[in-house]
Amino acid sequence: MKTTITTVRARQIWDSRGRPTVEADVVLEGGATGRACAPAGASRGAHEAIDLRDGGARFGGFGVDRAVAAVNGEIAKLLQGRDVRDQSGLDAAMVEADGTPNLARLGANATVAVSLAALHAAAAAEGLPLWAYLADGTSPRMPLPEIQIFGGGAHAGRRTDVQDFMVMAPRADSVRQALEITGDVFRAAGRLMEETGRLAGAADEGGWWPMFDSNEDALAALTKSIEMSGHRPGEDVFISLDVAANELFDGGRYRLGLDGAEFSSEAMVERVAEWVARYPILSVEDPVSQDDLDGMAAATARFGDRVQLIGDDILVTNADRVAKAAAAGAGNAVLVKVNQAGVVTKAKAALDAAKALGWGAIVSARSGETEDVSIAHLAVGWDAGQIKVGSFARSERMAKWNELLRIEEAMGEGATFAGASAFAPSVAAALR
Ligand code: PGA
Ligand code: ZN
Repeated sequence: MKTTITTVRARQIWDSRGRPTVEADVVLEGGATGRACAPAGASRGAHEAIDLRDGGARFGGFGVDRAVAAVNGEIAKLLQGRDVRDQSGLDAAMVEADGTPNLARLGANATVAVSLAALHAAAAAEGLPLWAYLADGTSPRMPLPEIQIFGGGAHAGRRTDVQDFMVMAPRADSVRQALEITGDVFRAAGRLMEETGRLAGAADEGGWWPMFDSNEDALAALTKSIEMSGHRPGEDVFISLDVAANELFDGGRYRLGLDGAEFSSEAMVERVAEWVARYPILSVEDPVSQDDLDGMAAATARFGDRVQLIGDDILVTNADRVAKAAAAGAGNAVLVKVNQAGVVTKAKAALDAAKALGWGAIVSARSGETEDVSIAHLAVGWDAGQIKVGSFARSERMAKWNELLRIEEAMGEGATFAGASAFAPSVAAALR
C-alpha cells in the first residue's frame, strides 16, 4: 500500500542552543517522506515527557546517541509495515512499547520526532501541505501570534525573574499585519535599550537581553517600546507574560531575585495582579508553580475574567491535567507543546480538551528549536487560535513566522485571522 511505512530513520542534528537533538525521517512504500526534529525546553515541568540524553562529559551530557539508536532500532521495527494514516495507532504503539509513564526509556525526543515525521509523511502521501491535511476540508483560523520582545528567566541567565515579556496584536486583521506590528515594537525596544545603555545582546529565543533593575522596570520599558513603535498599548498591542514561576519556586516560596522579594503563593498572585492592574497585560502564563493549582485558581478568580491565564508547566500538554485544572477553576488556556506529551495524538487530546471547555489553546515552540516548522502547520490545521514561537529574530523563530505567511497566502481570500476569538469567551468579550 502507498501509505505503508517502509523506513524509519533518525540522525543527530544540532538545535538553536548548539546542543544535539534528534531528527527523524519516515519513508512510505509509495515514495512519500516526512521529516521532523525534536525541540528542547530549558524551563521544563516535572510532569513532562522526558528527553533521553546520554549524560557523561561528551556534549555537556546532552548527547542523543541513545535516542537515535532507539529510533533506528526498536521504533523502526515497531512501525515498519504499518499504515502511516493511523497516527493514533502509531503513537499508542510507541507509548506502549516504552512502558514508562513519561517516555523515559525510548525518550520523548525520539518519539516526538518520529510521531511528527509520520504525520508529515501522511500529508505528503495525500499531496497536501500539513495544515490542509489536518484541517481535512474545514476552514481553520490563522493563529494569533504571541511574540517575545525581552527574554529573561532560564533563557537569559536569570537576568529578570519573569521569563518572557511578549506582545500580542489581537486587533490585527491577519498574521501578516500582526507580524508587521510586532516588528515595529521589536525594533523600537532595541532602540530604547540602545538609548538607555541597556543593549546587551539576545536571549535564548531571540528577544533582547533584559538589562533591567526590576521586573516592573521591564514592563514599563515594554509599554514604552509599544508607544515608541507608533502603536497604542492596550489598544493595538497588548503585553503577554510567561512568568514561568516554577523556576522561582524554592522551598515553598516564590523568590524574585531581581526584586529582592520572597512571596507566598497568595502574595505571588497579588504581585501579578498588581502588574495586570498597572500595565496593558492581556495574557499571563504560569504565574505560579507546576503543582500550585490553588494559586492558579486564585489568579483565575482574581483576573481570569479579563486576562488569559495559560497553564504550561502546570498542565504539560496533558488532557487529564487540563480536566483537573478546569474542575478547580485554575486557568482558561492551555499551552500545547508536542514534546511535553511526547507524541502528536496526546498533544492533540490536550488541545481538544481545552477547546471543549471553551479555553484558549496556544501551540508553542520550545526555547531550543530547529528549522522545523511543524508547529506553524499544527497551529493552523488544528485551529488552535494562537501560536507562540519566541521572538522576532533568529531563523529558528522566523522560519515559523514565515511559514505562517506562506500558509496565509495559500489560503487566499478565505483566510480568517483568529484575533480576539482565540481567547476564552470572557477574555474575548473584555477586549470588545
Ligand atoms: P522552555 O520555555 O521551552 O525552555 O520550557 C518555553 C516556555 O516556558 O513556554
Ligand atoms: Zn512557559
